[in-house]
Amino acid sequence: MELTSKILMRKWRDFWNSKNHKEIKGASLIPADNSVLFTTAGMQPLIPYLMGEQHPLGKRLFDIQPCLRTNDIDEVGDNRHHTMFFMLGNWSIGDYFKEEAIRWSYEYLTDKKWLGIDPERLAVTIFEGDDKVPRDTRSAEIWQECGIPQNRIYFCPKADNWWEIGGGVGPCGPDTEIFYDTGKPACSETCGPQCDCGKWVEIWNNVFMEFNVPTKDAPLEKLPQQNVDTGMGLERIECVLNGYDSTFRDDCFREPIRILEDLSGKKFDFNNEFGKYFCIISDHIRASVFLLGDLQPTTPGNVGQGYVLRRLIRRAVNCARKLEINPADLTKIADAYVQYYKEDFENFVKVENFILDEISKEVEKFAHAIEGGIKEFNRITENMKAGDMIDGAAAFRLFDTFGFPLDLTLDLAGERGIKVDREGFDKSYTEHQQKSRDNSGAMFKGGVAAATTEEDAVKLRRLHSATHLLLAAIRRVVNPDAEQRGSNITPERLRFDFSCDHKLTPEELKQLEDLVNEQIARDLPITCEEMPIDKARESGAIGIFDSKYGDTVKVYTMGDFSKEICGGPHAEHTGELGHFKIQKEESSSSGVRRIKAVLE
Ligand code: ALA
Repeated sequence: MELTSKILMRKWRDFWNSKNHKEIKGASLIPADNSVLFTTAGMQPLIPYLMGEQHPLGKRLFDIQPCLRTNDIDEVGDNRHHTMFFMLGNWSIGDYFKEEAIRWSYEYLTDKKWLGIDPERLAVTIFEGDDKVPRDTRSAEIWQECGIPQNRIYFCPKADNWWEIGGGVGPCGPDTEIFYDTGKPACSETCGPQCDCGKWVEIWNNVFMEFNVPTKDAPLEKLPQQNVDTGMGLERIECVLNGYDSTFRDDCFREPIRILEDLSGKKFDFNNEFGKYFCIISDHIRASVFLLGDLQPTTPGNVGQGYVLRRLIRRAVNCARKLEINPADLTKIADAYVQYYKEDFENFVKVENFILDEISKEVEKFAHAIEGGIKEFNRITENMKAGDMIDGAAAFRLFDTFGFPLDLTLDLAGERGIKVDREGFDKSYTEHQQKSRDNSGAMFKGGVAAATTEEDAVKLRRLHSATHLLLAAIRRVVNPDAEQRGSNITPERLRFDFSCDHKLTPEELKQLEDLVNEQIARDLPITCEEMPIDKARESGAIGIFDSKYGDTVKVYTMGDFSKEICGGPHAEHTGELGHFKIQKEESSSSGVRRIKAVLE
């Protein structure tokens, strides 16, 4: 019998209910504390409880959590990467530990009543220990008692068997990972679970969270309680249990892919040039449906979550073009997902039309944006033949005046064997940048008051630069994912709001002041560069991605300490700033703290 995702969700619920666990329902893709853009692991909403707070539902919990990871968005298109996926998780919040966690994992995987996997197909990896945390021999013993032979138990270093949330701050611990043997021949004598030849697939991770890293680079400390945090990828387990060659064969993708085949007249096959476009569209539209259908819906925009949604839809449009599908038909794919999931995600029923309308509007907006560019492209290349070249200035005009991504110019030109002068493009780009810098004058934007005298203008510039140093310091001292939530600067003081889940301690405030003053003492140069917003993100710049700056943004860099998207203006080097002093730290709103500071 085929194990569909719905059957697997039901089994998961039945199993954990039978072990007296309570389901956490209605989990949103958008974390409640706004500390990061998206929920990337099932444990994320549980952090306060893993740290010691009491959960209203008790100490044994489980859920089916939609997660979204954008770090490997560019990998989507092969046979196994996804942006959105479901993570099945169970938790002990200071209740059971290794013993029960491992035995239940084994029972769930192998018992005929549940997944019924042949134990011969399982292997596990375990933390081998380091200078801070000993080798996890207890987990190995329990696995052996369950029936996993010693030769399928592998001890691995921290890089493989230690779990912590991105950024490394927060609850963490050694883990034991369970792998499934797909039955493919071993690639070599040393082939094992850590080999990525495709024979072994990781299906479940059990993390024993008994440690915490309070701030970046701080030493490991023990949590007040021992927790268990597990995560099983639903798409993956469905794929291996049914023996599919890809997660995109899972049943939830079947109808969307069938519609794509129908619309394009092409067959879905990983081995042909179109396979990846089927995967990208199927993945991105599913993620878009879940972002729009979330209890805290995201709509396409130029900032934060909205920008990610816009990017997902626009990438899907580009792939639809490759399949020669009318992008407007992407709503049919979205509808297929709504119909598939609405039984389990009740909110979809209420917002069905909203989901489809938003996708349709975004597709239209994008089409409109590039329509003019396509006309211009056709005009430029009207009399060209294969081997000819579009000069840099023309390519730049497509980009600058028509908002045409350079990639699209390269693609369209490539289809006709026409070349693009990349160097010329870069040259025009730099010239343009210089010109707009010269014209930028002393306009004040982004929460910075207008200066009435040159003296005030200087003060505002310095305080503005101090906010960049402050945010970079907060990210180092308090939370690597902290984001600006507001800023207001007058000639007298700066006021800066940022995401943070706790009142800052006197030690943290002191560290922040010291770190900012250190950067001032280093007299770092403050430089500005203009670049397309995508490039800015890739370069690691942080900041508020605000539409008012258009597609091209300014990135201000302060030595090796800060890189931020911002409208400016700023001081020229940090030495100008004087002495930084925090006057007040208070709450601004839920999950947002406010710092008032001056330069003396
Ligand atoms: N938090 C663990 C993971 O995401 C279970 O793999």
